[in-house]
Amino acid sequence: MPTATPAVAAGIKGGMPPSKTVLVTGVSRGLGRALALELAKRGHAIIGCARSVEKVQALQSELMAVSPDASSSSSASPPSKHLITHLDVRSDSAVRELAKLIAESRRVPDIIVNNAGTINKNNKIWQVPAEEFDIVIDTNIKGIANVLRHFMPLMIEKKHGIIVNMSSGWGRSAAAEVAPYCASKWAVEGLTKSVAKELPPGFAAVSLSPGVINTDMLASCFGSSAALYQTPETWAPTAATMILSLTVEDNGASLTV
Ligand SMILES: NC(=O)c1ccc[n+]([C@@H]2O[C@H](COP(=O)([O-])OP(=O)(O)OC[C@H]3O[C@@H](n4cnc5c(N)ncnc54)[C@H](OP(=O)(O)O)[C@@H]3O)[C@@H](O)[C@H]2O)c1
Repeated sequence: MPTATPAVAAGIKGGMPPSKTVLVTGVSRGLGRALALELAKRGHAIIGCARSVEKVQALQSELMAVSPDASSSSSASPPSKHLITHLDVRSDSAVRELAKLIAESRRVPDIIVNNAGTINKNNKIWQVPAEEFDIVIDTNIKGIANVLRHFMPLMIEKKHGIIVNMSSGWGRSAAAEVAPYCASKWAVEGLTKSVAKELPPGFAAVSLSPGVINTDMLASCFGSSAALYQTPETWAPTAATMILSLTVEDNGASLTV
C-alpha cells in the first residue's frame, strides 16, 4: 500500500481535506489567477495555463510560495507540485500536448475549471469584425471543447472528476454590444448540460456564473465603473470553497458564486 508523504500525513492528522489536483485555464490574471492562488494556499496542486509567458512564469513561483507544504521538504529546491504553462486554449494540438505531459507525470486533474475567456469590444454585432467574433467563439467555446477532448479520457480512467465551465450572467440573460460574448456563454450553458448527460458515474459538469468582479474583462465592458465591484482576491475564497464542495449530485446544474 502506498504511504503518505510527511506533508500529506500531517494534513490528514490535522483534519485537512486531501489535496486535489485542479486544472485552471486562464491563470495569468483576473479570476483564474486569484482562484489558482487560493487553491494552492489550501494545499491543492494546480495545473494552469494562459498565453502570457512572463505572467505564467511568475505565477509558478508565487504558487510555490503560498503552498502550505512549501517549506516542509528538506531538499534545497523541491520539485513543484504545480505545473503552470503558457498555452492557447484555442489550439487543439497544444492542449493535446499538455494532456500528454500531464498523463506522463501522473497529475491527472480531479477538477477542471475551464475559466479562460475573452469578450468582444463593446459594439453592435454588425460592427464586430469577423476575426474578433471568431476569437470570442474559439476561446470561450472551442477552448472548453479542446480541454474536454484531451482531458476527459484521462479523468475517465481515474473514474472521477468535476468539470466547471465558467459561464456568466450573460450566459443566462442578454445585453447590447456584447452579442458575441453572450452567444458564447449561452453556448457554454448548453454545452455543459449536454456534457452532463454524457458523463459516466462519478462525474459532474456544471456551468458557473462567477458574479461581477473587477477584472480586465469587466473594465472592457463596464469602463471605469468596473472599479466599484469586488476584487478577484475577495471573490476567490468563496469561489474556491464552492468549487471544492461540488459533487456528482450537482451534475448539469447552472450555478452562481
Ligand atoms: N469578471 C467578471 O465579472 C466575469 C463575469 C462573468 C463571467 N466571467 C468569466 O470568468 C472568466 C475569467 O474572466 P476574467 O474576468 O478573469 O477575465 P480576464 O481578466 O480578462 O482574464 C482572462 C484570462 O483568460 C486567459 N485567456 C484568454 N484567452 C486565452 C486563450 N486563448 N488561451 C489561454 N488563456 C486565455 C487570459 O490570459 P492570457 O491573455 O495571458 O492568455 C487571462 O488569464 C471568463 O470565462 C469570463 O467570461 C467573468
